[in-house]
Amino acid sequence: MTISTSTHVDTADLTRRVQEVYRAVAEQPGGDYHFELGRALAHRLGYPVELLDQIPEQALESFAGVGYFFDIAQPAAGERVLDLGSGSGTDVFAAAALVGPTGHVTGIDMTPAQLAKAERLRASAEISSVEFTAARIEDLPLADATVELVISNGVVNLSPDKPAVFRAAARVLVPGGRLALADIVTERPLTEQISCNAELWAACIGGAAQRDTYLAAIADAGLVVRAVRTNHKYRFLSGSAQAATETYGVTSISLLAVKPA
Ligand SMILES: C[S@@+](CC[C@H](N)C(=O)[O-])C[C@H]1O[C@@H](n2cnc3c(N)ncnc32)[C@H](O)[C@@H]1O
Repeated sequence: MTISTSTHVDTADLTRRVQEVYRAVAEQPGGDYHFELGRALAHRLGYPVELLDQIPEQALESFAGVGYFFDIAQPAAGERVLDLGSGSGTDVFAAAALVGPTGHVTGIDMTPAQLAKAERLRASAEISSVEFTAARIEDLPLADATVELVISNGVVNLSPDKPAVFRAAARVLVPGGRLALADIVTERPLTEQISCNAELWAACIGGAAQRDTYLAAIADAGLVVRAVRTNHKYRFLSGSAQAATETYGVTSISLLAVKPA
């Protein structure tokens, strides 16, 4: 069965709006957003202090993730990791610390300012096991079966074609590879009024899929969902975002899915 999580949005306009918001997140992390940013958020979501201490401070100040998943992802030394929507690089640098110098981590993002900031931080920390690449997460520039772990934090909700993202992730994973992510989903489907509001979409609410639809899209891509948990400590900041959260049961989840061996 094919599940569609696409809605009627103008993809080009949405891409521009998302890039505008996340350029600001990279360049002005102290600005006013619908959502929280930074190290204190990451710590509250479950990132251990010892891991946070290995991430460049300026990457963390632009951290816009919605949950923690490295405990269920269990990265092992030497693994190849791909981060979908790597932003300013928090999870790429965390993964690089966890897989060590014999591993490799690729961050993919479509916002030039995020990529530029992440690459500047990588170069100044002289981390050679990390690379950042400009691409869309629906159309990954990686060969089939070339990574052991795909991660993503607060990103898939922003895609107008979630099934394509999960198919692309499944394609690049080796058999037995894992997808570990945190994202925003809803209990009840959003109305078109909300899902066609580009500002709420870019704020990680308007594009959120209903939870079972989201999980079915992962299964449709050929991955087996092994664990799902709700991140109760994630919350939106603005009044409009909180109102939508209450009406539609907008929540953050972390999950682990596996590609059958
Ligand atoms: C909420 S931020 C999360 C960034 C990062 N994962 C973190 O935890 O800080 C979303 C990021 O995903 C990127 N993004 C959104 N949609 C994308 C797409 N379709 N393809 C590639 N990148 C995308 C944005 O440019 C932005 O940097």
